Amino acid sequence: MFVPVIMAGGMGTRLWPVSREHYPKQFCTLVGDTTMLQQTMARLAGLDCAAPLTVCNEEHRFLAAEQLRLAGIEKSPILLEPMGRNTAPAITLAALQATAKGEDPLLLVMPADHLIQNVPAFHEGVAKAQILANEGRLVTFGIVPTSPETGFGYIRRGERIGETGFVVSGFAEKPDLATAQAYLKDGGYDWNSGMFMFRASIYLDAIHTHAPAILDACKAAMAGVESDDYFLRPEREAFKACPADSIDYAVMEKTDRAAVVPLDAGWNDIGSWSAIWETQSKDANGNAFTGDVLQVSSKNSIVSAQKRLVAIVGVEDLVVVETADAVLVARRDAVQNVKEIVGQLKAAN
Ligand code: GDD
Ligand code: MG
Repeated sequence: MFVPVIMAGGMGTRLWPVSREHYPKQFCTLVGDTTMLQQTMARLAGLDCAAPLTVCNEEHRFLAAEQLRLAGIEKSPILLEPMGRNTAPAITLAALQATAKGEDPLLLVMPADHLIQNVPAFHEGVAKAQILANEGRLVTFGIVPTSPETGFGYIRRGERIGETGFVVSGFAEKPDLATAQAYLKDGGYDWNSGMFMFRASIYLDAIHTHAPAILDACKAAMAGVESDDYFLRPEREAFKACPADSIDYAVMEKTDRAAVVPLDAGWNDIGSWSAIWETQSKDANGNAFTGDVLQVSSKNSIVSAQKRLVAIVGVEDLVVVETADAVLVARRDAVQNVKEIVGQLKAAN
């Protein structure tokens, strides 16, 4: 038995113009027929777990509640952050909430915006992680890397722990390209999938050791928590004072209690338009199209047309995303920088 903690507070800026500030990627339908959040909930079916605890921004409370309802999950608590402080505080709020009544459950932390194509393999990974989390470890799920991606955390596999996983002998969040290339060549590293499993008290203990200011601020915010129905609102001013940091930098790079369970489950973090292209079925020329699209002599391109007919002629490795009020045209190898457009839009408003 464990409590799923769903992290749904990211901005998804690299997936503009479909992902927007008021409607970020976890609430969008990007791959398949349902939203990323609904798919995250659906993959819990069949696991022996309690009602999920979702953590998201106050602004998105109705989106989250409606999508949970559509996923068949009603009346499960939603923790509302007054502002984003990244994942270490989000998980700390969830761990404090989960232990508020003297219980100390295992938590399975899941990003609300990832794709997992092989659900039975994911369930097997969770079963292994549960064994290691019951031994007091902070468990990560490791993906065999296929490229020197700099947007991920890298986990160094240490000693084997029976049939279940490995001790983590090093964790490096978002290394530079040369380091990522060296890790890939070394072969002893996994990508961090961004999912975690641990006992709530073990995580709180780690935050207490490695980022005490985060624990103090979150405790103060939860001391003043207000609830109406299933919405839980930590106290605004206390949470505002919380330092912003991710679990990866704040805890995983520093702890010596981490373990990794290898996961081969068709995982993709759907982080950019090129990640979406990778997951889609393509024509003989490597093109992936959604909506009304025509092409002549084009290769390895992704086009998403929502409102109008889009035609491409003689182009390669291009991304075209058309929506009601914005059109993105980018080179497929430059899509990580789409977030800079969002930065420009914010600066202009
Ligand atoms: N509630 C809440 N509040 N959720 C948040 C917040 C926040 O302030 N910030 C981010 N999230 C959610 C995002 O929606 C996403 O589901 C998840 O937490 C991870 O945040 P990202 O911002 O997407 O992290 P990342 O992609 O840069 O890096 C993480 O994921 C990689 C794999 O995709 C790290 O864990 C890396 O080590 C990992 O490789
Ligand atoms: Mg991410």
